[in-house]
Amino acid sequence: MNEAALRQVKQRYDIVGNYEGLNRALDVSLQVARTDLSVLITGENGVGKEVIPRLIHDHSARKGKKYFAVNCGSIPEGTIDSELFGHEKGSFTGAIDSREGYFGAANGGTLFLDEVGELPLSTQARLLRVLETGEYIRVGSSEVRKTDVRIVAATNLNIPKAISEGKFREDLYYRLNTIPVAVPPLRDRGEDIVLLFRKFALMMSEKYQMPPVRLTEPAKQYLMGYSWPGNVRQLKNVTENMSVTSEEREITPEILERYIPRDSGSRQLVAVGGQESAHSYQNERELLFKILFDMRKDITELREQMKTLADGHGGMNYSHVTLPAQVMNEPGEPQTVDEYVESESTLLSMDDVKKDAILRALERHHGVRKEAAAELGISERTLYRKIKDYGLE
Ligand SMILES: Nc1ncnc2c1ncn2[C@@H]1O[C@H](COP(=O)(O)OP(=O)(O)O)[C@@H](O)[C@H]1O
Ligand SMILES: [Mg+2]
Repeated sequence: MNEAALRQVKQRYDIVGNYEGLNRALDVSLQVARTDLSVLITGENGVGKEVIPRLIHDHSARKGKKYFAVNCGSIPEGTIDSELFGHEKGSFTGAIDSREGYFGAANGGTLFLDEVGELPLSTQARLLRVLETGEYIRVGSSEVRKTDVRIVAATNLNIPKAISEGKFREDLYYRLNTIPVAVPPLRDRGEDIVLLFRKFALMMSEKYQMPPVRLTEPAKQYLMGYSWPGNVRQLKNVTENMSVTSEEREITPEILERYIPRDSGSRQLVAVGGQESAHSYQNERELLFKILFDMRKDITELREQMKTLADGHGGMNYSHVTLPAQVMNEPGEPQTVDEYVESESTLLSMDDVKKDAILRALERHHGVRKEAAAELGISERTLYRKIKDYGLE
C-alpha cells in the first residue's frame, strides 16, 4: 500500500479515516484505475461509495474525457433504456427528437452506474451486451453502434441474494465484478467515527460561525459502540443537526441520546440474526418497525397478564406505566400502556406504518421525493412504486 498516495487522495477528495478496510478500498481503487476493467463497489447505504468512481476516473487514462454518474434507481423503468442507450425520433410517444443516451455520450470516458442492482432485467441484458462487445442499439433503431466506455458500478444490495431471487443476472454480475471494491460499514471503523464527527462539526462551525460541538470521552465511546445503520450519511446528519440545535457545545451521551435512535433493539436483532437478517431489513426504519411491532405484542400480552392479576388482587391500576421514549416522540402520541394499546387500531398493519413513514418523510422534505427517499433509505424508484401502491398521489 502506498501511504503517500493514499494520504494525497484522502486530502483531495475530502475523505476522512484511517480504518484498514477503508484504506484497502481506496488502495484497490487506485490500482485498478489505470486499467480499463469494470469495477463493482459494494457497501451499505451511506458508507461513502460515490467518491470512488470519480477517483477511479481521475486516476485513469480517461481522465480528460467525459465522466457521467447515473443513478439507476431514480430513473423510471419506462425510460431507462432510452436514457442509457438513446432512442430514435418517434420511437415512442413523446420521442420528438432522437437522443444519444449515456453510453453514446460517455464514449471514451467513464460511466458510473449507481444503484446498479435496481436495473430491470431487460436493461441488464442490454448492459451485458455493451460490456462484452462494446455494441449497443438505441431504442427504436436497428443500427448497431459502437462505444468505448469504462463502467464503474455501485450497489448496496446483496447481489448474490438478488441473483438467487432472480432479480439480477448472474452473468452480468461476473462481468461487472471483475474488480470488487468493498466499502466497510461505519460501525466497524472505530476511531474513524470520532474523526468524522470532528470533521462534520468543524464544517458546521465554519459555516455558521459558532463554536464546534465537542465530544466528552464517554460520548466518544457511545458513538463508537453505536450501530450506525445509515453509516456516514447518518453521522453527518446527526452532527449537523446537533451543531445547529444543541445549546450545549460539550456533547455527553445524554445529549447524544436525544439525536440518535436508541440502539439496543436493532443491535440485538442484528446480533441474533447475524449478517443475513441484517440484510433482510432494508434499513434502520424497518428495524424500528419490527421492534415496534414486537413491543406491541409484548404490551398486549403484558396487559392481559396485568388484567388477570388485577382481577385476582383487588384492582391494581397499571395505566400510569409509561412506554420507552422512542414510542412516544410525537406530541399527542399515547403516553401510557392503555392509551397505547387503545391506539393500536391506528397501527394495524406494517403497511400502515410504512405508509405513515412515507407521508411523514415527504412532508418533512416538502414533497421532494429524492430527499424523502434518501431519508427512508430506499431508491427513488421504490418510493415512486410505494406512493403508487399505497395510493398516496
Ligand atoms: N470517509 C468519508 N469522509 C468524509 N465524508 C464521507 C466519508 N464517507 C462518506 N462521506 C460523506 O457521507 C455522505 C454519504 O456518502 P455517499 O457516497 O453518498 O454514500 P453511498 O455509499 O450511499 O453512496 C456524503 O455526504 C459523503 O460526502
Ligand atoms: Mg449513493
